[in-house]
Amino acid sequence: MKNKDLLGLKDLSAAEITSILDAAIPFKALLEKGDKKTNHLSGKSIVSLFYENSTRTRVSFEAAAKFMGGAFMSIQAATSSIQKGETLVDTGKNLDAMKTDVIILRHPTAGAPHLLAGNVKASVINAGDGMNEHPTQALLDIFTMREKLGNIKGKKVTIVGDIAFSRVARSNIWGLNKLGANVTVCAPKSLLPKGIEKFPCDTTIDIESALKNADIVMGLRIQTERQQGAPFPTISEYAAHFGVSESRLKIASKNVIIMHPGPVNRGVEMTSSVIDSANSVILQQVTNGVAIRMALLDILANRKEGKK
Ligand code: CP
Repeated sequence: MKNKDLLGLKDLSAAEITSILDAAIPFKALLEKGDKKTNHLSGKSIVSLFYENSTRTRVSFEAAAKFMGGAFMSIQAATSSIQKGETLVDTGKNLDAMKTDVIILRHPTAGAPHLLAGNVKASVINAGDGMNEHPTQALLDIFTMREKLGNIKGKKVTIVGDIAFSRVARSNIWGLNKLGANVTVCAPKSLLPKGIEKFPCDTTIDIESALKNADIVMGLRIQTERQQGAPFPTISEYAAHFGVSESRLKIASKNVIIMHPGPVNRGVEMTSSVIDSANSVILQQVTNGVAIRMALLDILANRKEGKK
């Protein structure tokens, strides 16, 4: 990778994305074996700094670092000196002073990882910043698509749900577009972001046209915690008009792959029968998240001194 940090997929080249995905292949193989231990991160220090809740991202980074022999420390904003008024940059500088190699940051403000990265020597990984990007999620999603389909070039990837507030959608749109997939996003008008026409994807409010011939369907959670006002009258009306169900999927590609970044709200963005179907790779995504994060920690913690 050209930079010391992973802040988003918008600014990565197709070659950089592909090299991360390829680097995760041997780590996935390692995870499938009984003994997952390696020494790739021996003597390296990794800190997760989370200002928002997380299950998958935080735990998979911790698992990845520990499998590779790194020292892993976790800071939850709610129980740290951030509560005493310490700024993000000062927190980062203190972590630098403890010789931290990689800081993994989740923050409600878009651009927070960029601010931190510009003020610390450690590599910064964006683990989700507001509505901007969640690059490791998109990398694990694309890794899973490649595992299932081989080449994703020309494949129709439909993302249905809360596009407006989704950093996962944005990172997937950038990454998938660079690798040649055709992305369609679908949501009620109130859940499409302003300026969506400038993103490299097709946009529709018609769930039938979004699902027609889709090779991959990704559901997204309705992020009520980020919304002001109600984007639709009731959750059950959203589910009735936009929920992905087995009957709706009949017009998708025969072997359509079902994905979701989690956490899922069963019966809202997807029915339970779709979430648990044979075509669902939702838990495979979670496994692949560990492999992708192992590859990234290895790349960034072991990069040569003096590179940007
Ligand atoms: N997909 C994802 O980011 O999940 P968490 O919020 O649990 O980390």
